[in-house]
Amino acid sequence: MAHQITLIPGDGIGPEVAEATVRAVEATGAAIDWERVTAAPGELDEVFASLEVTRVGLKGPTATPIAGGHQSINVALRKKLGLYTNFRPVRMLPGLKTRFHDLPLNLAIFRENTEDLYSGLEHEVVPGVVESLKVITHNASMKIARSAFEWSRRESRRKVTAIHKANIMKLSDGLFLKCCREVASHYPQIQYTELIVDNACMQLVMRPEQFDVLVLPNLYGDIISDLAAGLVGGLGIVPGANIGDHHAVFEAVHGTAPDIAGKGLANPTALMQSAVLMLFHLGERDAAARLEQAIYQVYAENRHLTGDVGGKASTSEFTSAVIGHL
Ligand code: NAI
Repeated sequence: MAHQITLIPGDGIGPEVAEATVRAVEATGAAIDWERVTAAPGELDEVFASLEVTRVGLKGPTATPIAGGHQSINVALRKKLGLYTNFRPVRMLPGLKTRFHDLPLNLAIFRENTEDLYSGLEHEVVPGVVESLKVITHNASMKIARSAFEWSRRESRRKVTAIHKANIMKLSDGLFLKCCREVASHYPQIQYTELIVDNACMQLVMRPEQFDVLVLPNLYGDIISDLAAGLVGGLGIVPGANIGDHHAVFEAVHGTAPDIAGKGLANPTALMQSAVLMLFHLGERDAAARLEQAIYQVYAENRHLTGDVGGKASTSEFTSAVIGHL
């Protein structure tokens, strides 16, 4: 029976990379019924109704206005569906020349996805003074720490690093660390280390190869994800998965890229690699592995790459090259 998947094309380059990804997934032969829905601000009923049935979504980026306007659609989705784990594997692609291409980078980022400064609890205390509440709970911190360690055990990874600023935010980041330490104590075979977030940024740029699995609260996870994407060739590449106990929504790390939207220039690799994660999640291991290999082959050939990674191909030429390998 075909898998029913909720497809949210999103804004900006979203529809372009979503279309490319659908073409590539269909070329794997995996049986998928796409249910296309639109995620508009304040009108997410259709999205939730579809995900309630399908339980699995593939999502393009959605725009969020700066300093005002509607709440982020992503934050709303992640909170409402309890998608507490944001998983982002950051890997070097074969043949791609980056500043760090000679390093065997293979990081896995586990970002807490439902709270922290993304609680959306902000108010003006008196004119000229505003407060934003950073909410850290034992429950959510335990869940993300367990996700990181359980995945690391399954994948035989050697080290988990918790990233924090508990020297300053002693209570909130302190609680996050306490939870990570508690979970770490149940996995003696995995090395556990901690790093203050500012030092972590410097270390990631200077010696990224020392890192393996990172576990972070929401805001640091957001920032470090983009930094890590920069190490392996940029936002056009890095995939992601938002996972909860009952639902999973797969999406790239990147946003709507308004500077290149509608021009056929976007790199669909990040969403295609998110679809690889989705196919594994659905148990379609063969289709997942073949799509991954096809993407790797296009990179190794270095003939049909998009502009962000040094090539000249359009979104559609890159996609046809991937399909050619399937
Ligand atoms: P962005 O990720 O959209 O773009 C940053 C830079 O990376 C731009 O130069 C862009 O052209 C480039 N880039 C991103 N994805 C690319 C791709 N697939 N191929 C080639 N180049 C790519 O970040 P920005 O400009 O900060 O945000 C734009 C909008 O996206 C905002 O409204 C933001 O809220 C939203 N956003 C949505 C996300 C989501 O829905 N998951 C995640 C991040 C941002």
